[in-house]
Amino acid sequence: MTDPSSPTSGSPTSGRPHRVGVIGGDGIGPEVIAEALKVVAAAGVELETVDYDLGGARYLRDGVVLDDATVEEWRGLDALLLGAVGTPDVPPGVIERGLLLKMRFDLDLYVNQRPFLAPDLTHDFIVIRENTEGTYAGEGGFLRKGTPHEVATQGSVNTRMGVERCVRYAFELARSRPRKHLTMVHKTNVLTFAGDLWQRTFDEVATEYPDVATAYNHVDAACIYFVQSPSQYDVIVTDNLFGDILTDLGGAVSGGIGLASSGNLNPARTGPSMFEPVHGSAPDIAGQQKANPVAAILSAAMMLEFLGEADAAARIRKACADTATLVGSTAAVGDLVAARL
Ligand code: IPM
Ligand code: MN
Repeated sequence: MTDPSSPTSGSPTSGRPHRVGVIGGDGIGPEVIAEALKVVAAAGVELETVDYDLGGARYLRDGVVLDDATVEEWRGLDALLLGAVGTPDVPPGVIERGLLLKMRFDLDLYVNQRPFLAPDLTHDFIVIRENTEGTYAGEGGFLRKGTPHEVATQGSVNTRMGVERCVRYAFELARSRPRKHLTMVHKTNVLTFAGDLWQRTFDEVATEYPDVATAYNHVDAACIYFVQSPSQYDVIVTDNLFGDILTDLGGAVSGGIGLASSGNLNPARTGPSMFEPVHGSAPDIAGQQKANPVAAILSAAMMLEFLGEADAAARIRKACADTATLVGSTAAVGDLVAARL
């Protein structure tokens, strides 16, 4: 399979350890990443890590969010692993747009892959969220800001290329799974421009995948199905903002957000992909060893899979499967998972 959009694993970079940039970040980020790295080492995979002190705390210290030179340095890495970023004292958007979204956009991490497995195994689906366009693209601005006649617009940018590469990735992923089923989620009945482009692209790409069964749900209806019948899903593909919202719900119905992992992927492999738990920095419990590190550990497993370490990834996932028994402090849960490998 030579298709660059293939979701299948890469091959191990034999002969040398994988080079991984690590951004522990803010709040519980460093604590959960420490456990993820502990588990990777226990699985027998050697990483050469480079630490980057970035996030809200760093910004408050010296004003640095993320400079272009650092992004250039990252291009030579195999992957990035991020804990969580965000501090209450920083205005909204500074870290989100300046760090997280800059990573996604500059490194062209156009697929955000978020798997959801019910602890009792009654559902097992993956959301493929478009990760570089939509309302996240930053289109819009203010007019007459601060006056009674203020106007604010925030457009949704959808390119044929951007939608198609994401949809194609989702079809490849669906094809690789036993059920071979792909649902597009959007709001085509209201977002008649963006939705039309998504639907036409989806339908055209579908003709190339006759072995993949397809469905369509409006995003509001999908919220009901996520709660009432999540087992109907196999792979879902959706736009950036819908995917953001749906994947928090996906976490909530799959054992909690403390288990939800994600990969921000550059499937073309023109640079490193970035792996992070879906949860945030949870400043209220930071430094108390209360955070569940499983989301970070499973994100590291996804990273290993992408780097061609499928066996280690599978062993880590298996060690995390019995979530009810993974209790205790952040470090204790990391130790338990490591001991089960
Ligand atoms: C996520 C987060 C981010 C997003 C924020 C922190 C910018 O909520 O990864 O889901 O909206 O994508
Ligand atoms: Mn989110």
